[in-house]
Amino acid sequence: MVDTSHTHGKRVTRVTEVSHPLDPLTESEISAGRQILVDAGYVTETVRFPAVLPVEPDKKATLAWKPGKPFDRSILFVMLDMATGISHEAVVSVTDEKVTSYTRVGSDVHPYGQPPYLFEEYDQVEALVKADPRWLHAMERRGVTNIDDVFCAPLAPGYFGFEDEIGRRMIRSLTFWRANKEDSPWAHPVEGLLVTINLTTGEVVKVQDEGDIPIPQGSGNYDVATVGPARSTLKPIEITQPEGPSFSVNGSLVEWENWKFRVSFNSREGLVLNQVTFNDKGEDRSILYRASVPEMVVPYGDKSINRFWISYFDAGEYLLGKNANPLVLGCDCLGVIHYFDGIAADDHGNPMVVPQAICMHEEDFGVLWKHTDLNFNPDSRRSRRFVISYFATIGNYDYGFFWYLYLDGTIQVEAKATGVVFNGADVPGTAHPHANEIAPGLFAPVHQHIFSARLDVAVDGNDNTVEEVDVVGIPMGPENPYGNAFTYTVTPIETEGSRLADNLKARSWHVKSGHRTNYTGASTQYQLVPQGNPVLMAQPDSYVAQRAAFATKHVWVTKYEPNEIWPAGMYPNQHAGGAGLPAYIAGGDSVVNEDIVLWHQFGPTHIPRTEDWPVMPVDYSGFMFKPYGFFDVNPAMDLPDGNASCSCCGSGRCGTDTCTCTHGH
Ligand code: NI
Repeated sequence: MVDTSHTHGKRVTRVTEVSHPLDPLTESEISAGRQILVDAGYVTETVRFPAVLPVEPDKKATLAWKPGKPFDRSILFVMLDMATGISHEAVVSVTDEKVTSYTRVGSDVHPYGQPPYLFEEYDQVEALVKADPRWLHAMERRGVTNIDDVFCAPLAPGYFGFEDEIGRRMIRSLTFWRANKEDSPWAHPVEGLLVTINLTTGEVVKVQDEGDIPIPQGSGNYDVATVGPARSTLKPIEITQPEGPSFSVNGSLVEWENWKFRVSFNSREGLVLNQVTFNDKGEDRSILYRASVPEMVVPYGDKSINRFWISYFDAGEYLLGKNANPLVLGCDCLGVIHYFDGIAADDHGNPMVVPQAICMHEEDFGVLWKHTDLNFNPDSRRSRRFVISYFATIGNYDYGFFWYLYLDGTIQVEAKATGVVFNGADVPGTAHPHANEIAPGLFAPVHQHIFSARLDVAVDGNDNTVEEVDVVGIPMGPENPYGNAFTYTVTPIETEGSRLADNLKARSWHVKSGHRTNYTGASTQYQLVPQGNPVLMAQPDSYVAQRAAFATKHVWVTKYEPNEIWPAGMYPNQHAGGAGLPAYIAGGDSVVNEDIVLWHQFGPTHIPRTEDWPVMPVDYSGFMFKPYGFFDVNPAMDLPDGNASCSCCGSGRCGTDTCTCTHGH
């Protein structure tokens, strides 16, 4: 079924044989699918594979599926002919060993849209830029003659209706000087120099060179030589689980306490959780059918030539899963860890393993509930959460995507933004409306990171409705004679649409079961609690607002459609806009007691600071998805007092601090 290797303190699962329709693609499936395309004559010398993705299995069939029954496994291969710039989508059934469909991607007709970039194209960019005499001249003008270590960043160009760009496979490049290959390039931006390339013709279309800002020479390095020796004052913290972890893994199926779910992974979304259920008095009750963060956008708020066009769609333009970190090295997780290898595909459509891409472990999380009664008898129970996470690095930034499951039925999604902020250069001390000087001569532009979570909700089944809940005051009068009264309003979202958060009303969105009630007679619900940070700051008429329309609202509600997975559409790269969520809601379908999908946008609006340099401390953003009348009572009342959740009992510190133990000492 699976390869599970067990080495000191950690286990690793690589799903190698499929036993469930929602299992991730395996290496052998990708190889087999590619071979079917080779045999059918589709894979010529110049064909590459910008994306290889699982075709989601039919939902009804999957819900009705019983172990041992057959099911189809299909793969979508996006194929780019680098010689012509023409792309095709090939769907291959590896079950039936045939090409099911082969259709041309409309990259050259309005509204355009290119498949994600290949790793190979990054090398192509560097070679093309460094061979261009205009660029060489621009570097010489800035006093740089040794270009060997110069870094030419390959960057998605956006869409601006430029005649020499539309419908073509373009990329831009900003230049960063480096003292050597180990030097952090982000400290040395070459201001005022922008190169635009046609990747199909291999032509450097434009070299824009303006201004005479010197290249900043300060170091952005963070090695011992630069930062100095590590402090020696921190004593070790050991996380020990002497009886092992409380979770179990069987293939892609994970069980922890009352929770059950299936782990999946693909090139574009990275981590996907399927069929998330919570066991309530012996019954596995469904909460989510499928959950992921399938898109994000990082729009910059600077109008300069180097940056006005920047709005990276890290999933749709670069692929989060393909850029996932192998967590083989480093200390990203503590405790007893279980990893899943991530299976993606390389530029040639061959399977590519990201070793230990997904990390799972348990974390102590302080107090879950506590009370000291009138007789001064304290009761307290510790919270623990189950963490499923991965990190992706896209150029300068690193993004962690963390899903937390709690003992009380809460689900939390957290995006961790870290890495190195993107800088321009100017004369130290210059005042900038759109950038902050974060190190002498380094100006980090204002920007946003807006993530989109797709929650294919299934709160006690698929017949769900979303209700918007606001707290509201009541004018003084007969309804509020003393002025103290306030209430809350519940407004159902009846047709597909989008909504904004309103923190002054503590606005939340409740996903309600169409048929199930709790013991008070109320419908069972889960509540999405947003942080309510700014949505897209760009103007509504801007190109980026058309392309990143998903990011203009905190919430979208759509009726489930199998192919509606991408908030900015299938090909946001150089797309003119309107795809994804605006198109998904265009039908205006009823979303009352229907199979619905809830999309939530969140993330920081970042005005960088000096402390973000040279590597930025993690910036956290996310949301909670909490049971709301889903359970009759607090589902964590049965947590054991003391020993199972605290280890202090064995070491003689009982009854103090945060741990209260009532036995065995
Ligand atoms: Ni940022």
